Amino acid sequence: MMSFRPELIGQCLYDRTWANNCNFMSSEKYRKEPNLDEFVSRYGGIYEHSPWVAEDCFVAAASVEDIHELATIFANCVGRAGHERKLALIRAHPDLAGKAAMSGELTEESGAEQASAGIDQCTKAEYEQFQELNAQYKDKFGFPFVMAVRGSSRQDILAAFASRLNNDKQTEFEAAINEIHKIARMRLQESGT
Ligand code: GUN
Repeated sequence: MMSFRPELIGQCLYDRTWANNCNFMSSEKYRKEPNLDEFVSRYGGIYEHSPWVAEDCFVAAASVEDIHELATIFANCVGRAGHERKLALIRAHPDLAGKAAMSGELTEESGAEQASAGIDQCTKAEYEQFQELNAQYKDKFGFPFVMAVRGSSRQDILAAFASRLNNDKQTEFEAAINEIHKIARMRLQESGT
């Protein structure tokens, strides 16, 4: 086992090879993955199509005590990201009842979330309502509508969708990031870790 060398911690933060060899930082803590690749393979999908969140949190995750702390570390990492990175994160989300959903191209997590809210069971009229709202929302804000839909019905979601369309862009940007954090916490809980 390597000895603890504080002067290497900064290097671990920025260099994937070094981070993979940072086993000396693990103790009997929550994080069980001894190297970066295993950690990212386990948590890379917590933020939709954005494994950089898990990558950036690997070293900090070595000291977390439980899943709630891990969720907070992930959320703080996203919180520190710049506007463009946050925008890309929002845009990484597929439309609800959108083309990706219809053609079976959703991530497992997104597919399960949409199905849990019955979005895969839309009537023709509801499906058309989603398409209309998706188009209006993206036209107004330049990113997709994101909502943590687990526990909501299609009617709840369509009502929230129509209501949020009245907001301004900054409010919706912040709402989307908040919803993404809720989704991430639920994904972590669902992952049973
Ligand atoms: N809410 C939960 N999952 C998703 C998703 O994949 N896309 C969007 N737009 N909202 C979600």
